[in-house]
Amino acid sequence: MNGTMQVNAQGHLTIGGCDAVELARTYGTPLYVFDEEAVRQRAAEYRQALSSLADSEVIYAGKAFLTVGMAALVKQLGLGLDVVSGGELFTALQASFPPERIFFHGNNKSESELNAALDADVGRIVVDSLYELQQLSQLARARGVTARIYLRLTPGVEAHTHSYIQTGQSDSKFGLAIAGGAAMKAVRQAQELANIQLLGVHCHIGSQIFDTSAFDATVLLMMDFMAAAAQEGHYIKELDLGGGLGIRHTDDDDPMDVKMFGEFLADRLQEAAQERGLPVPKLLIEPGRSLVGEAGTTLYTVGVIKELPGIRTYASVDGGMGDNPRVSLYQAVYEGLVANRMMEPGNHTYTVAGKCCESGDKLLFDVELPKLEPGDILAVPSTGAYNYSMSSNYNLLPRPAVVSVYQGTSEVMVEREQYQDLTRLHKIPQRWR
Ligand code: LLP
Repeated sequence: MNGTMQVNAQGHLTIGGCDAVELARTYGTPLYVFDEEAVRQRAAEYRQALSSLADSEVIYAGKAFLTVGMAALVKQLGLGLDVVSGGELFTALQASFPPERIFFHGNNKSESELNAALDADVGRIVVDSLYELQQLSQLARARGVTARIYLRLTPGVEAHTHSYIQTGQSDSKFGLAIAGGAAMKAVRQAQELANIQLLGVHCHIGSQIFDTSAFDATVLLMMDFMAAAAQEGHYIKELDLGGGLGIRHTDDDDPMDVKMFGEFLADRLQEAAQERGLPVPKLLIEPGRSLVGEAGTTLYTVGVIKELPGIRTYASVDGGMGDNPRVSLYQAVYEGLVANRMMEPGNHTYTVAGKCCESGDKLLFDVELPKLEPGDILAVPSTGAYNYSMSSNYNLLPRPAVVSVYQGTSEVMVEREQYQDLTRLHKIPQRWR
């Protein structure tokens, strides 16, 4: 079981010392439960893992899960924050997140987003293309400021993960390719352009990665690039390796733990620097999923149970692809726990479906659970990353609330959407009234 999960004397699942069945009763379902202690632990592990380096920073990738409350927690944890849009930047600033710890990413930032980043004086803007480099130089000059930048490079590494979440390969919409020379051209231009200060290079090879070989290859390629740049007289002092470490969804998953992963990167970096006669750069990493993924659990109430003899038994819950699009989008596999009957053996096989008008709206496939009854509370762990942040109002279902739990107390991070929220921006054109 993930994070602080336990089973209490009533046989109920507890998270952060809170009874999940009580949480469902108090806040309703579907409900995202956020285990604060689990995030605190992961953040501490990451920082400790990099402690052998003279200079390092852990930047939380906000796209995994960002709310004003989350930004406040990230600030308190002393991490940096990676944002990828004006909306994420705005959310961070709403929490008074220190701008110097914000890293602004994106492969197609709009002019207004670049201006917002310059106006907020964010720590680093991660430039993705030669076009953006020119554009940013002009915008910074117009404002009389200097943009501190990283260049996002594409190292040409193929990580073993779902093709939709691979990003380091040569055929990618992201970044400046090392092969072919676009990356080095950008370094030269960045050095010459006015109002641009090149501080580092960045890469991100993909997400939900379990095997270290792709990270290993990436460190070497990036350090080769930094050595080549140094030969031309361009000394790049910071290296941001992005995120990507996988998490456990089911017992079949065996990701490296955060501490080992961080130590592995730190060791490889130090070796690679030594081999190339370079000083060890400042190392930055941008974990999203591995910081919050296992800290999130979604609670649902079981409704209709449909037995198809000789085929399967469907149990439908009150959420689905609206709150967890990852199953239909990436064939992600999750497990389920019956939060109100944790001591009972799983001796019935179910396919758990959502309530959307879509056959593909399924959450769990052929899972073994105790015999389900309508009203049971189903918990799906490891839904803390890319679930709330990718949720939708498909079928005009209101988005669930998000509740943080910590040492027996619970507090709302995001209110449950109401029907009024769904139509708040809707207008009836004059002619149809
Ligand atoms: N840095 C950059 C530049 C990224 O693009 C990403 C993720 C991260 C860091 C964080 O990666 P993580 O540690 O979370 O793997 N929606 C997909 C995942 C997309 C990841 C996009 N970039 C999913 O649900 O699997």
